[in-house]
Amino acid sequence: MEPGSILTAGAQALARALLAALLFAAAARSSPPESPIKCDSGNSNCTITNSYGAYPDRSTCRFARAVFPATEAELVAAVAAAVREGRKMKAATRYAHSIPKLSCPGGDEGVVISTRELNHIVGVNSSAMEMTVESGVVLRDLIKAAAGSGLALLYAPYWAGVTVGGILGTGAHGSSLWGKGSAVHDYVVGARIVTPASPAEGYAVVRSLDAGNPDLDAVKVSLGVLGIISQVTLKLQPLFSRSVTYVKRSDAGLAAAAVTFGSQYEFADIKWFPGSRQAFFRQDSRASSNALGNGLYDYIGFRRTITAGLALERTTEETLEAVGDAGGKCTVAQQINGALSVAAYGLTNDGVLFTGYPVVGSQHRMQTSGGCLKEADDGLLTACAWDPRVKGKFYHQTTFTVALPKVRDFIADVQKLRELQPNGLCTVELYDGILLRYVRASTAFLGKEEDGIDFDVTYYRSRDPLTPRLYEDVLEEIEQMAVFKYGALPHWGKNRNAAFAGVNAKYAKMGEFLAVKGRYDPQGFFSSEWTDQILGIAGSPKIETDGCALEGLCVCSDDRHCAPANGYLCRPGKVYKEARVCTRVNN
Ligand SMILES: *[C@@H]1O[C@H](CO)[C@@H](O)[C@H](O)[C@H]1NC(C)=O
Ligand SMILES: *[C@@H]1O[C@H](CO)[C@@H](O)[C@H](O)[C@H]1NC(C)=O
Repeated sequence: MEPGSILTAGAQALARALLAALLFAAAARSSPPESPIKCDSGNSNCTITNSYGAYPDRSTCRFARAVFPATEAELVAAVAAAVREGRKMKAATRYAHSIPKLSCPGGDEGVVISTRELNHIVGVNSSAMEMTVESGVVLRDLIKAAAGSGLALLYAPYWAGVTVGGILGTGAHGSSLWGKGSAVHDYVVGARIVTPASPAEGYAVVRSLDAGNPDLDAVKVSLGVLGIISQVTLKLQPLFSRSVTYVKRSDAGLAAAAVTFGSQYEFADIKWFPGSRQAFFRQDSRASSNALGNGLYDYIGFRRTITAGLALERTTEETLEAVGDAGGKCTVAQQINGALSVAAYGLTNDGVLFTGYPVVGSQHRMQTSGGCLKEADDGLLTACAWDPRVKGKFYHQTTFTVALPKVRDFIADVQKLRELQPNGLCTVELYDGILLRYVRASTAFLGKEEDGIDFDVTYYRSRDPLTPRLYEDVLEEIEQMAVFKYGALPHWGKNRNAAFAGVNAKYAKMGEFLAVKGRYDPQGFFSSEWTDQILGIAGSPKIETDGCALEGLCVCSDDRHCAPANGYLCRPGKVYKEARVCTRVNN
């Protein structure tokens, strides 16, 4: 078959699959994500992975025992037992959405302490507008409980399936340049954390930190290396309504507009489709108090999707990769994105139908979504799009924050690269484009250093780690440009190893963070090979094997790090000449 006919058939099939998936959203049941922890009976001899079924290095993480404490006392007992036995340990969340190996304890004999059962709302103080929750509470449930008391979390990650502990572990955020900005951790006013202790203290203690405690700036973003957070108290606001309008523009003025847009709208974000030269500006502000609306944001990409449709989409993507048809990706992406835009990405004015902008709705119905989390089993007829049990989306996610003063030049550089390879960025358009979210500098030692824009870049990952991607070099160059030329900070919960090169040196308060770690866990029970590498304690996140650059485990310095047999060799970048990227060389 000609590539042209493949893509036309593929695009039409995809549009049909998408429509079916949209219509199906009215059905009641869906398969929830499965537990990332698998053990023999008796919770021993276990493995853990992330919710996508593959860590960046695709290794299997083995450990000896899984524990599921349901109270703080049980959590203390679990930590104490591991300390007494001299075992490394890690907290794992209910679904384990962090991509890097943050949930994998060191060695093979470690303990994973799941916060799945630590999922209670402890209390709401309405006069102080504070809510205390256990660390395993899922964002979706937190938002619902707050709204039940007439309160709202100001900013939140867009995916509702993360837990409070996971959010704090990785510095997860929403989008805002207003007030203290969009990071959840900047609204933490208290926490209780269980850390190792001496035999005389019973091997584990609870440390209770109030708002004035300087250690809170370490605990608020801690990668799980200080201990296990038991409870968190968050500052909330009275519930309010929002008004959202998506506006499509050419991306010609994006470099300048992105910098100012964040101060114009409290909840602003931008979806950028660099292959199509378009950007969707989310004009999102608090609604005036007399604006009425029962709007709902049930983001289509996070809804349960018919698995047959997912398989078709993945097969189309794999076929376009195999025949080398990057233009086909552009065409397919335009079909899908056209349909998504018409469907307002899942916004509805009344919970059922989209009738036009603006969509006005209460904060708790608009701020985050996760339709595919519904707890009922339909035998995998539907699932979250990335569920590893089905043939669905499998991708890399390169996510980094560029400081606001550098955003303009960074976007202009990406556009220059796009001019040189016009189809090279279509791959991100099959993943809803590049998402730009605003974040502010934080007092947290491992929070953002400066106000900036977080770029979320999602793109095809081959099931075979040694198979190069189409336009492999373009995204490698963008990754290196961001991380090295523009000094961007990688998102702790996303990314491939390459983005973490030298990350410890980018944090002015890394020393303060490590000092708290030294007091809380001097023997490193909560440290693993991975956390030691990214915190600059021991080793490097770089893995130099044949083909390592294809998976972002290294920056290539030799052709063997690419795929010489397929014609991909290690070459300088095209715009950022210092980059070293796997480039397809025709000869
Ligand atoms: C642990 O599980 C693996 C399979 O995951 C199995 O091969 C191995 O024999 C088991 N070890 C023990 C001690 O049960
Ligand atoms: C609620 O917060 C206020 C102000 O911090 C405090 O005075 C009061 O004791 C709290 N109420 C409860 C029930 O904790």
